Amino acid sequence: MNEQIIILDFGSQYTQVIARRIRECSVYSTILRYDTPAAEIAKLKPSGIILSGGPSSVYAADAPLPDRAIFALGVPILGICFGVQLFAQFLGGKVEKGQKREYGKGTLTVKDGACALFKKLPRQLQVWNSHGDKLTKLPKGFVSVAVTDNSEFAAIENRQKRFFGLQFHPEVVHTPRGKEIITNFVHGVCRCGKGWTMRNYLEQSIAEIRAQVGKERVILGLSGGVDSSVAAALLHKAIGDQLTCIFVNNGLLRAREAEVVQEVFGRNFKMKLQYEEASNLFLNKLRGVTDPERKRKIIGKAFIDVFQAATKRAGKVKFLAQGTLYPDIIESVPIAGNPAALIKSHHNVGGLPKNMKFALVEPLKCLFKDEVRQLGLELGLPKEIVYRQPFPGPGLAVRCLGDVTPEKLKVLRRADAIVVEEMKLADLYYKTWQTFAVLLPVRSVGVQGDERTYDWTLAIRAVESQDGMTADWVRLPYDLLEKISLRITNEVRGLNRVVLDLTSKPPGTIEWE
Ligand code: XMP
Repeated sequence: MNEQIIILDFGSQYTQVIARRIRECSVYSTILRYDTPAAEIAKLKPSGIILSGGPSSVYAADAPLPDRAIFALGVPILGICFGVQLFAQFLGGKVEKGQKREYGKGTLTVKDGACALFKKLPRQLQVWNSHGDKLTKLPKGFVSVAVTDNSEFAAIENRQKRFFGLQFHPEVVHTPRGKEIITNFVHGVCRCGKGWTMRNYLEQSIAEIRAQVGKERVILGLSGGVDSSVAAALLHKAIGDQLTCIFVNNGLLRAREAEVVQEVFGRNFKMKLQYEEASNLFLNKLRGVTDPERKRKIIGKAFIDVFQAATKRAGKVKFLAQGTLYPDIIESVPIAGNPAALIKSHHNVGGLPKNMKFALVEPLKCLFKDEVRQLGLELGLPKEIVYRQPFPGPGLAVRCLGDVTPEKLKVLRRADAIVVEEMKLADLYYKTWQTFAVLLPVRSVGVQGDERTYDWTLAIRAVESQDGMTADWVRLPYDLLEKISLRITNEVRGLNRVVLDLTSKPPGTIEWE
């Protein structure tokens, strides 16, 4: 990557958001630990450095502090929140505990319209604050360029050195014009071009994959999810038939899922696709099992067995490709009071064991999810795959409550297909995080035609979420719910009742098991 902005992470919950905002400006960004030596940073030739926020106080004994030499690299620096306090700490200002915590919305008044960060922006801006400590004396060479009710140093600048400090958070959506402030920093101050596009990335990545793989063969576990699909399409473009994709049908997939994968990757892209039909194996192992965690364990282990056997059949292969993303490999920094640095494990690998003796190819490992989707479109993958909703590894087994039988799966699959179809027709499917059907192990009495029925119950689950960690249930229109309910009770034998799940997460989870 030629031009880039380095973000030093001091443990802010928003560090990844900063990185994404910069990339939305078509500029590459990298997150590094707060204490990365300045010499190492200099080697990357950054166009600018951003000091993230963080939960600590600069005066705390265990405060995360950067290498002092970063201030002498001659590179523009933007300090956000805790980042501002670092200027004070290192360049001679003063930070004190604020009289009151400044948290939430505030109004910023820009005093000096000549400050490059506020170019083409109004004099009054809505901003988002989240800080307790506050700057009370400016660091040497700095002037105040904007104020809030609570702070006369809400934005500060050392124009000569191109150092800027913002007490508020420009990266969050609650600072509506924040993206323009970041744009002003990366393009206006750091003079970055707009070289980070998925088209450029595609060309560069193809060259890198070819250099890494040479004439060797690569296998990839293709689930049909966004990450493995984009990784497959990218690798195929780079190395063609040297790539073999292994697709395991575990019998727990949704309607037409296996067919779509064969159609798209086999027939359209003409990839070498090794289709492993293992439905019976999984369903036999799951027979009579009702405990959700046991279901997961059985499915996880069976997947490893099937995948390992499949790789043996694939012949001599040197590389295993994985759809690892950037958030999976960013190293967490020690947060105040929790000095143990947590290194995130590569959880994106479908739980494959470490003893599989392959070298790894991870062509998406510096991309965020939204970039992976853009890359997928660039590679010609259909919307159905690029914008696919998350689907759990254990598949319908955790949406078929209680024991999992082929009959129940058939009912669930048909009902789920109706939910998805109607959501798409209403133009709502791709606007929700997840929408699906859950088969409840509850039978109730109904009347259909002149007949009394005693059938299963189906729950509809539709949630909005950013990352699956928290979620809210979607207020679907009544007429859509009515249509879904009518179609399900009319078209799917074995169901006579449809209910709607009105639980957010917390206290519920998104899946029912
Ligand atoms: P929960 O149900 O915990 O789900 O609120 C959060 C997100 O994770 C997905 N999920 C899983 N994904 N294997 C997976 O690969 C699993 O066992 C699993 N369980 C839940 C779920 O669909 C949601 O997006």
